[in-house]
Amino acid sequence: MSLETGRRRFGSTDGAIALTGVGAPLDRVEGRFKVTGSATYTAEHQITGLTHAALVESTIARGRIARLDVSAAEAAPGVIGVISHLNTPPMPRMRGLLTTGEGFALQTVMPLEDDIIHHAGQPIAVVVADTLERAQHAAHLVQVEYEVQPPRVEFAPQSNQTYPPQPFFGGIARIAPDYTRGDAARGLADASIRVEHTYTTPIEHHNPIEPHAAIARWDARGSLTVYDTTQGVHSTREVLAEALGLDSDKVRVICPFVGGGFGSKAGLWPYTALAAICARHVGRPVKLVLTRAQMYTSTGYRSQTLQNVHVGAGRDGTLNAIVHHSTSIGSSVGEFPEPATEVTKVLYACPNLETSLRLVRLDLGVPTAMRAPGEATGSFALESVLDELAHELQLDPIELRLRNYAETDPDSGLPWSSKVLRECYQQGAERFGWAHRNPRPGSMRDGQWLVGWGMATASYPTLGLPAQATAAIQADGRAVVRSGTADLGTGQYTVMTQVASDALGLPAERVRFELGDTDFPFAFLAGGSSGVRSVGPAVRLAAEAARAKVQALAAGDEDSPLAGYGPEAVGAEGGELFVKHVPEQRESYTAILARHGLQEVTGDGSVDAVNMPNGHRVHAFGAQFVEVRVDPDLGLVRLKRVLGVFDIGTVLNPKTARSQAIGGIVFGIGMALLERTAIHPTLGAVASPNLAGYLLPVNADVPAIDAYFVDAPDPYVNSLGAKGVGELGVTGVAAAIANAVYHATGKRIRDLPITTEKLL
Ligand code: MOS
Repeated sequence: MSLETGRRRFGSTDGAIALTGVGAPLDRVEGRFKVTGSATYTAEHQITGLTHAALVESTIARGRIARLDVSAAEAAPGVIGVISHLNTPPMPRMRGLLTTGEGFALQTVMPLEDDIIHHAGQPIAVVVADTLERAQHAAHLVQVEYEVQPPRVEFAPQSNQTYPPQPFFGGIARIAPDYTRGDAARGLADASIRVEHTYTTPIEHHNPIEPHAAIARWDARGSLTVYDTTQGVHSTREVLAEALGLDSDKVRVICPFVGGGFGSKAGLWPYTALAAICARHVGRPVKLVLTRAQMYTSTGYRSQTLQNVHVGAGRDGTLNAIVHHSTSIGSSVGEFPEPATEVTKVLYACPNLETSLRLVRLDLGVPTAMRAPGEATGSFALESVLDELAHELQLDPIELRLRNYAETDPDSGLPWSSKVLRECYQQGAERFGWAHRNPRPGSMRDGQWLVGWGMATASYPTLGLPAQATAAIQADGRAVVRSGTADLGTGQYTVMTQVASDALGLPAERVRFELGDTDFPFAFLAGGSSGVRSVGPAVRLAAEAARAKVQALAAGDEDSPLAGYGPEAVGAEGGELFVKHVPEQRESYTAILARHGLQEVTGDGSVDAVNMPNGHRVHAFGAQFVEVRVDPDLGLVRLKRVLGVFDIGTVLNPKTARSQAIGGIVFGIGMALLERTAIHPTLGAVASPNLAGYLLPVNADVPAIDAYFVDAPDPYVNSLGAKGVGELGVTGVAAAIANAVYHATGKRIRDLPITTEKLL
């Protein structure tokens, strides 16, 4: 996208262009702190009198603790306390809600409740010592005898009993497990062609670089401060207070930097509550940092899915019916049905639809949101089956999608807030050279390599969550803007600085945006790609309010060159307010505040949760194109290139947006070709809980990736016209790669990841 057009509508006031405002490729404002090591991550906060905790985890997956002997651990050098269900009152059962006001905690049964073992790796005791090494040593001295039952960890939905999940909140709206539109059975019966297949995706783990960690400190008045690795300090405060039986105003949660989250830091997990309980128990601040292995057991994961998709269409490719049933993992410690069928409800114009979500109860921890939950897994199935249909019909896969283009939201019947998906297909096809594709599988070669080109649609409903912000214009001509949101490495610090910079008429280097503290105004968690869509307009409102107050001061001050001018007559740029029709008549924020003897002038901004702004359905879209090379003798798949074109509304910062899109595509590559968590069939534990056993894409796996944006501000979504980008880039990638592998080889892989043995 061009910077000029990006600024055109939403740039600095009244045609004056700020080089650092919305649309500019501003470098990350916190980048210097990160590369110099001065960005303080959770485990790095220096706290006086700090002690260290180490978890003792269950080595069995199902059963009960017959005997727990902590005497040797308690007697070990440096140990200050050992907590377990024997000496700690149980935490209450959590409500397991995902709502905009009440926080996000999917684990309803917290550890140390009693002697029951629900899953392998369940914390059963915590040792606190004066050093980490002594805590870890003493943790090994805890002796446990179990009554073992064989764990249920095999995900085989056909043979197991499945059950419907409770309706759940998908951020804003309630999702029911069953959905129908029209008459799907009739629609299938009437179709000229039917394609039905089953697609499966494995358990995956988030694997952020920064391990989950918490530091908890109580003060003498019973108030708690927690440094936590969290995607939302306010959300964590609410549910942590609930777990500890406190009023939430007794809890402060701080998290200025997050080293990746991808959903795994989107809610309260046991470690945070355990750190707080330990700190209360020993009367000193406690730090609890999870090991890499512990991050595989009680901080969530992407559920395995089994998805059956049955589509019926006319000879011309017009979809007449889709039936999509998805089963995912249910747990006895909480519930998160992977919402894989959500995308099917909205992506194509199809009159007859039936979808369902079911669960299979396994002895595993509770799954959670991961990297476009639902859309990533669901779009693998939907966008694969569409490719299969296209081949059956001998129709170009883009043409098939265009013939079923949803001009309005087929679910609600409402218009889209904006949708330029057609342009994404067209631009993507042109840039990729799609017209040169020979549609016949196995027809394109490069020496020994079979060449495959595949595509798929990307789609994600960036959420509109409640958010508040405050902006302070200061006497020195700088501004501080605050909101209790998070930056997971996504660019939130940077783009919120840009939004405020425009609204204040201040260059970005004079604006400081702060986040990650419950002392700042409320923002719900950074999940569902909600940050730009939700926090952006709140920041803009706050900055505009502060600016308006300064303008009003000047308007009523006969010593000001702005005296008597109303807000609409006054612009702002370069730290000065000016009369629009006499631009040389201007005065700086500094001068106005000085004359009034003010240290700062503040303004507040607030936006509510918005599901359907002005009766419009919000979705971001895109088109993914990939080229693979497959060695037919060795079954090797190598990616040659990936290209995505995305419809995200206004691009606040082309550099951070592109980085988001590319990061999403890399996650899609991992999902397609590498990532899979194996559970040991008899032990019920993660077989290889480390980054040697869990394969993530590394540089050698990642080809040249191009990400482009259609420059089309969304007129309804919010005052910025920006829908949000984070998770969109993940969606569609796995299907596009599977479709390309089919095009290369004629082999359809319906089970992720696509590994060598499946191609031989
Ligand atoms: Mo994200 S997986 O919605 O935290």
